[in-house]
Amino acid sequence: MTVTRNVAVIVGSLRKGSYNRLAAQALAKLAPPSLDLKIIEIGDLPLYNEDIDAKGALPVAWAAFRDSIKRTDAVLFVTPEYNRSVPGVLKNAIDVGSRPYGHSVWIRKPTAIMSVSPGAIGGFGANHHLRQSLVFLDMPIMQQPEAYIGNAATLFAENGSLANDSSRTFFKSFIDAFAALIERSLD
Ligand code: FNR
Repeated sequence: MTVTRNVAVIVGSLRKGSYNRLAAQALAKLAPPSLDLKIIEIGDLPLYNEDIDAKGALPVAWAAFRDSIKRTDAVLFVTPEYNRSVPGVLKNAIDVGSRPYGHSVWIRKPTAIMSVSPGAIGGFGANHHLRQSLVFLDMPIMQQPEAYIGNAATLFAENGSLANDSSRTFFKSFIDAFAALIERSLD
């Protein structure tokens, strides 16, 4: 019997027409039956402030976010690059989930990163800055295939689905490899 693994998908863009959100939705459609991908929204998380954790009166959105990550088996990040790094909204979500000290919700959750950009180098800088944080957070991270998706403006058809077979094949290989990493990490 196939066990279903719940995967939290974190999209690093709040933009309505986000290419990264479309990429996340495409991955969810191509995922094998063993994975259930669900986008966890991060746009309403108040900025992280350690004083608030120290007082223990948590913003509802922080508590809900921490709970939803705790309840998942794995985490998939799909993010744009802002100024050669990770968008602030995504870094904030990572920081919120990482504290209070000793209670990080990220620890040992298998993870993978896809970066998507209209530019030619596919968000390589953001992808690797994010990787640095995830290594520190002790998350088993997928090494291959790497996913730096460039030229995003031509990637999607008008209905938001992937526009060509070669992209579909690559996205499928990416999400299948992640499913395999999750099984290796959680067994
Ligand atoms: C960008 N963009 C961008 N692109 C890139 O490839 N490298 C970069 O360093 C940056 N820097 C950057 C900074 C800021 C503040 C913004 C708003 C944008 C362009 C970015 O890739 C583009 O807006 C994407 O469309 C964002 O992804 P979504 O929103 O389509 O998912």
